[in-house]
Amino acid sequence: MLPEQASTVAADIDNLYFYLIAFSVVATALIVALIIAFAIRYRRREGAEPAHRDRENWKLEATWIVVPFILIIIAFAWGANLFVEVSVAPDDAEEIHVVGKQWMWHVRHPNGRREINELHVPTDRPIRLTLSSEDVVHSFYVPAFRVKQDAVPGRFTSMWFEATEPGEYHLFCAEYCGTDHSRMIGRVVALAPSEYERWVEAADDPLVSAGEELFHDMRCADCHTGEPDATGPDLFSRYGTAVAVEGEDELVRFDREHLRRALLDPGARVAEGYPAVMPTFRGRLSDREILKLAAFVEARAEDE
Ligand code: CUA
Repeated sequence: MLPEQASTVAADIDNLYFYLIAFSVVATALIVALIIAFAIRYRRREGAEPAHRDRENWKLEATWIVVPFILIIIAFAWGANLFVEVSVAPDDAEEIHVVGKQWMWHVRHPNGRREINELHVPTDRPIRLTLSSEDVVHSFYVPAFRVKQDAVPGRFTSMWFEATEPGEYHLFCAEYCGTDHSRMIGRVVALAPSEYERWVEAADDPLVSAGEELFHDMRCADCHTGEPDATGPDLFSRYGTAVAVEGEDELVRFDREHLRRALLDPGARVAEGYPAVMPTFRGRLSDREILKLAAFVEARAEDE
């Protein structure tokens, strides 16, 4: 029913949540049952006026005051304690910067490595995210960690967590931020500490990260989704291979030059089996930007 519990605070938060739900359900059921029972028992009856009674029962009154009071104080103390724990990062937490921007997440690791819509973190180590936004309010939400924090323009906010299990977890923007809010999604990849060290030390080519950002900005993935029923062919699995083109017998090698021509003159060589709907990017992309895009596609193709 709930996402898996993958951070140190997840189980505590769920338990408090269940306590509050159980309390509300029991209290509501009791009140509704009593209303119905009293309404039937003390209804107005022909010829039998209800007797006027004013007896006191202080034990009964004390019970219905003291018991809910104790249960609510437990919820308050428990909740306040947990709130402080979730709000205050441990001193030894590692800091990662996250910037929200319509409609993607930029991540910058302490050593300068960057990523987009992905956040690699080590397990068993507290991580503090410092969040900000370039435009509107976004909200960084990782359900499996039970943490969520707004990214507000003109202000730094922070959140922290400690992942317990290696794995991939959903990352959502949880604040409506415009047209593509629902697509402002990504993943958090929790790696064993040694694997994280290896990952974060791996070279990060600025050309490739600039290309990745352009790939998002130009919304290439809207059509080149990589899914079988996509409007456009998958770029990463095809790059570097020979591909079939509409109206030509010979296969064409999908290299930087092919990518360049596809961007500037998309009608000239249409991938076989796909509609000729790609718009031209002539005048919208400079040569340098095309180079960045190609570097990104090439790097991603090598990863696959
Ligand atoms: Cu960013 Cu919703």
